[in-house]
Amino acid sequence: MQNQITVIVGTQWGDEGKGKITDLLAQNMDYVVRFQGGNNAGHTVVVDDKTYKFHLLPSGIISKRATNIIGNGVVVDPKVLLQELDELKQNGITPQLLVSQRAHVIMPYHIAMDEALSGHQGALAAGSTKRGIAPVFADKVYRHGIRVGDLIDPEIFYEKLQKAYQFNVGIIEKVFNLKFDRAFETIYHEYLGYGEKLRQYICDTEYELYQAYTFGQKILFEGAQGMSLDPDHGMYPHGTSSNNVAGYCEVGSGLGSNTCKRIIGIVKSYVSRVGNSPFPTELTNDTGNFIREKGVEYGTTTGRPRRIGWLDLVQIRQSVRTSGLTDIALTKLDVLAGLEEIKVCVAYKINGRIVTEMPASLTAMRNVIPVYDTLRGWTEFTTSIKERVRTGGYTQLPEEIKNYINFIEKNTNCPVKFISFGADRNETLIR
Ligand code: GDP
Ligand code: IMO
Ligand code: MG
Repeated sequence: MQNQITVIVGTQWGDEGKGKITDLLAQNMDYVVRFQGGNNAGHTVVVDDKTYKFHLLPSGIISKRATNIIGNGVVVDPKVLLQELDELKQNGITPQLLVSQRAHVIMPYHIAMDEALSGHQGALAAGSTKRGIAPVFADKVYRHGIRVGDLIDPEIFYEKLQKAYQFNVGIIEKVFNLKFDRAFETIYHEYLGYGEKLRQYICDTEYELYQAYTFGQKILFEGAQGMSLDPDHGMYPHGTSSNNVAGYCEVGSGLGSNTCKRIIGIVKSYVSRVGNSPFPTELTNDTGNFIREKGVEYGTTTGRPRRIGWLDLVQIRQSVRTSGLTDIALTKLDVLAGLEEIKVCVAYKINGRIVTEMPASLTAMRNVIPVYDTLRGWTEFTTSIKERVRTGGYTQLPEEIKNYINFIEKNTNCPVKFISFGADRNETLIR
């Protein structure tokens, strides 16, 4: 029997291809739900030569069937959301969207604070996207955050904004000695305006999802970021501020469930990292440059060049464990084509000791020497190979790729069920 709930998560440092696989599966879903992160995410969908880039909108938004939800666990920059909605309408798509009234709002002082924080954190900074992510989540936990529902409730918004504004501007000006020149009243009226424009989408998405679940509808959760950026399980403090392991889908949507979920971890055939942290398998040579250019590894959100490295199975094993992955979707196999040999990291050597599970210690991570196995590379995915694979299925894949897949499955104990060899929705094999 098919699972009613499917969860898609990133297993590395983000940008694994979550948007692509979400869009593919969304064609047969009733709901697609973002449950964490914000517009630090950048998810790409390619259909028939048309490319869409989503930061806040779930990647199911171009599916004719699915209702898309921005859940309570997401942080919403209303200006960015309205821009994305406008672009969609310009493309002739009418969005089927609901936004949780409980989702927190990114305010201008969060963006100013993000900038200031990154400077302060120096070598321990993650190299944030400067979208205000850490400060907005901090305000949520401080308990003076602004929620989407407040934007359409002028009195409570005024009351809450006074506290939040005073606190944040105080820190920006008195702790960081920076100037913040946006007046309280200007922000108040600007954001009330956004509330008016978003009013039609704002509702009790938690109850909506509960009803959908009760009626047996199919729900897909779309994760943002990747496990190594998770604030609990990732390479702290070089991560983001919302959990992205699969279990968080219940917290970030309000849908508690006791059914078995299908949990798909998106694994890029190599690793990319945008931002700062130890990166055991990083390639700073010609091979890294070759992969970056061929894979167009430049940030969807910030345009920054992504750091590149070999696939790291210590990282993937941790993701299998912490998200309870049932399946792996392996993406960008076409990018590695043309390399004679491909390395895969199977363990770390730290101070002479072999370690097979991800260490929590930053000191240990700074001292990792990757232990590699070397596998044979494969040739280009020509149009005829793509066609053969599309019609003939798994057996038609080059032997070297099947070997790579077997190696990953054996070392992670998780089956590879999706094989992606191009950015387009069609360039995917489902086993
Ligand atoms: P996300 O953040 O996980 O959704 O991933 P991004 O969209 O930020 O980055 C993935 C990039 O790879 C996008 O440009 C996708 O269009 C592209 N992509 C996804 N799967 C494949 C694939 O199998 N092959 C190639 N060549 N590109 C892919
Ligand atoms: P998607 O969903 C790649 C990284 C940033 C930085 C750290 C903290 O497209 O995979 P933040 O702005 O969240 O405070 O930055 O996290 N980061 C991502 N890297 N893909 C993403 O999202 C990311 N979202 C955040 O580069 O190192
Ligand atoms: Mg991305």
